[in-house]
Amino acid sequence: LSDLQANILKGHGRDHTKNVFLSFAGMKSDAVAGLLRDLSFVTTSALTQLREAEAFKATSLSGGTVLSVFLSANGYRALGLPDAKIPADKAFRAGMRIRGRLPAVPLPFNGPPINDPEKEHWEKGEAWDSAKDDPDAMVLIADEQASLVGNSYSALQKVFAKHGATVLGSDIGLAQRRKQAGGDVRGEGIEHFGYVDGISQPLFLTEDFLDNSGVPKPRGKWNEEFKASQFVVSDPGNPTTFSCGSYFVYRKLEQNVKLSKQRERLLAQSVDPQNPDEDRAGAMVVGRFEDGTPALQSGPVAGAPTNDFDYTLDPVGLKCPVRAHVRKTNPRTPGDKSERSHIMARRGITYGPRKPDFSDEPETGVGLIFMAYMADVNQQFEFTQSAWANNTSFPFQPAVPAKKGVDFIISQVANSGDPSEKEWIDGHSQPQKVGVMDFVQTVTLMGGEYFFAPSISFLQSAPSL
Ligand code: HEM
Repeated sequence: LSDLQANILKGHGRDHTKNVFLSFAGMKSDAVAGLLRDLSFVTTSALTQLREAEAFKATSLSGGTVLSVFLSANGYRALGLPDAKIPADKAFRAGMRIRGRLPAVPLPFNGPPINDPEKEHWEKGEAWDSAKDDPDAMVLIADEQASLVGNSYSALQKVFAKHGATVLGSDIGLAQRRKQAGGDVRGEGIEHFGYVDGISQPLFLTEDFLDNSGVPKPRGKWNEEFKASQFVVSDPGNPTTFSCGSYFVYRKLEQNVKLSKQRERLLAQSVDPQNPDEDRAGAMVVGRFEDGTPALQSGPVAGAPTNDFDYTLDPVGLKCPVRAHVRKTNPRTPGDKSERSHIMARRGITYGPRKPDFSDEPETGVGLIFMAYMADVNQQFEFTQSAWANNTSFPFQPAVPAKKGVDFIISQVANSGDPSEKEWIDGHSQPQKVGVMDFVQTVTLMGGEYFFAPSISFLQSAPSL
């Protein structure tokens, strides 16, 4: 754990981040290595993160800055490494820009295209020409307050300059939290459409299965233990045997809140013009109510188990549509190990300001920085986006005759045109109600890259590689 970077096995939980993108253009490989060595001294390890979590439980004192370092395939190339020392994942080596625009993601699954937009625009108005300057590295700074992130960044700027690295630009992460009744208790993280996010996570640390007193927590069937090898791989760049790293997918996804809310209202109207229920309409699209209650339930249930469910009793999607976001991205078929192999460790954070009560409905400037760790970019992120979310005919079971369609939150392709793909059945009411709503894209990719989070000893040893 002292050699693995923080945030991979468990999210860092800080509310403020700065994601700084670097270019190594014009740097000699020695200078790149010198930069990585300097960064190794301040890169947070999984062990430090674990100790801080224990300290917090014991004393309520929270830890300090978390700093993570990521390299893209171009960043590795700038180090002048032999091919065998560059992480081998084909998607990682090609980079997100190439992969996101392939006509179709190559076998083994041959899904529809990921269909990323032609032009990236994640740094509107700044000097970074994101149409051609792919980042070589990304440094993530996370802390409890924006000013603390700013202090760390000021110190790091000198380190970047010392070695000749150029800061291309940065994204600021700002967690939004659900307001708790009765004051300033820290609420759950929500994304900009207003839904609690980050509920369903693969668990693999012993402590994830114990409560604060070390007693095993009751475990539902969907809180099974994952193998860490689904999220970490051995670090090919490192001379020692036990070093591990992780592939990391970064996508800045802008959310059009106004359009999404309009759509929820339209769907509610269409399902029941007399008595429109926007909460249910939203739950049909997301697969959960705003508070996280699964859409399988007839309405939000306080304290309901939020991850211990599957869709066995709702095979055709009468309670939770089969195209709802959480159903598309984790179909939860009992016993299907191959399906579970596509799960990622999601570590996203929202960006952009909002009114404290979320009464504003911004069309631009807010969104989700989707970040996820995994062992195989093609089989995990690309598979989920292409073979599931963008795929009008998924799920494939014959029990689901039609009414499939794309994921209305993250799809980047339209529906096939089959009229059943617009149909929304609310099977909670008797007789069932049916509404009609076309797919409208409310989430747009602003930019992103595939990175690798190397072991800390790799960063330390970079000069002698
Ligand atoms: C779950 C929103 C992008 C994959 C969720 C949840 C929300 C949400 C509200 C429910 C909370 C939970 O179950 O943890 C969003 C929004 C996005 C976005 C607003 C874009 C702006 C993505 C992307 C992917 C993804 C790009 C992958 C390609 C997942 C997965 C789950 C999830 C795997 C958990 C499903 C489960 O295990 O039941 N998302 N998401 N999301 N999302 Fe997203």
